[in-house]
Amino acid sequence: MFGAFFVPRLFDLVKNSSAQPKKQISFYTLSLNSMDKVNSFINTRLESRKKLDSLRTLRKDRSLIDFCSNDYLGFASSTELKSLIKNEIAKNPDYLTGSTGSRLISGNDEFTEKLEMEIAFFHRAEAGLIFNSGYDANLGLFSSIAHRGDTIITDELIHASIIDGTRLSAANRFVFKHNDLQSLEDKLRLAKGNIFVAIESVYSMDGDEAPLEAIVTLAEKYNAAIIVDEAHATGIFGLRGRGLVHEYNLQERIFARIITFGKALGTCGAIVLGSESLRSYLINFARSFIYTTAAPFYAHLSVKMAYRLLEFSDHQRLIHHKIEFFKQAAEEISMQFLNSRSAIQSLVIGGNQQTKIASKFLQKKGFDVRPILHPTVPEGKERLRICLHTFNTDKDLVNLAATLKELR
Ligand SMILES: Cc1ncc(COP(=O)(O)O)c(C=O)c1O
Repeated sequence: MFGAFFVPRLFDLVKNSSAQPKKQISFYTLSLNSMDKVNSFINTRLESRKKLDSLRTLRKDRSLIDFCSNDYLGFASSTELKSLIKNEIAKNPDYLTGSTGSRLISGNDEFTEKLEMEIAFFHRAEAGLIFNSGYDANLGLFSSIAHRGDTIITDELIHASIIDGTRLSAANRFVFKHNDLQSLEDKLRLAKGNIFVAIESVYSMDGDEAPLEAIVTLAEKYNAAIIVDEAHATGIFGLRGRGLVHEYNLQERIFARIITFGKALGTCGAIVLGSESLRSYLINFARSFIYTTAAPFYAHLSVKMAYRLLEFSDHQRLIHHKIEFFKQAAEEISMQFLNSRSAIQSLVIGGNQQTKIASKFLQKKGFDVRPILHPTVPEGKERLRICLHTFNTDKDLVNLAATLKELR
């Protein structure tokens, strides 16, 4: 609209006015030309995505059976959670709809700080700092913690938010082969300065787990600090969903953990867990914490209530029942699945086009299974990422497994 209508009119105005000095005409001509250039760049990029069958588009349809969301425990639609939140809201009728500023200016309060302490205690960490999202948490942590001369080593399948965080840091960056201890040790030998190793306890695209104990032991040999993203392990593993670090009792040996609230906890936001001094450091240096408006009371209250539901309900047992049930139903094709005991079960198809065809076939049958395409995953590893939930009925799981078998 702006390019096609508004700007040419402005341009005409300038062109037709004899009072305007020539300089301004050339300014508008320039801005028109440069906009054409940018638009042509944008269209070329989109065309190339279309050619590669990897154009991303947004979808609104929620009528299919959900096998794609990260709402593993069904908290996002839980009436129990809604009524817990509603009751608390009723006790705080004067709550503010917005936090009114960043945490360092006007957006902080007793409630948020207490919540941080409660969550840290739940996960058996010394302290925690809440960010508005997992993306913000990783961006803030990784961009601020390592400096020129330091080294960050990440698993090759690490989440984009960690990659982006490390890109904002001046530290050396190394990548090791997925879950490969030898490859990690090769990088550790080359590392200089303060050394950080970043992994996910459950990988978001494969659903498999990091060999946590072995990685921690290896990292300790090289004095490296471990950072574990527990986005997909929270609520699923560890006592009452405390995560895999807790399941293996490694919390004392881990430098920092990232827990996200937008997945199994069904709300939004994230917390970085670590020492009191790490918390204070992030308040001072993590730009994605400092320069943003804090989440409002309602968001933090929802997180608090989601933790309450996690602690005092049976959802974790139920999700493991569903995972086991699905695996048994799909046993005949188990070889095609990546190894996973998490709620993410990935079936590698290979090729963007083939994977899209497979997911469309499933969607036609009523299952919302999404294709994960290159460049999100390496070429040849394009897959159907099947997310299991407590609310998927046993019948849905049997039917999905039967439909997947038809793909062979
Ligand atoms: C491993 C991992 N870390 C971080 C994030 C980002 O979390 P959020 O969605 O809260 O920004 C995600 C979400 O996709 C993730 O999968």
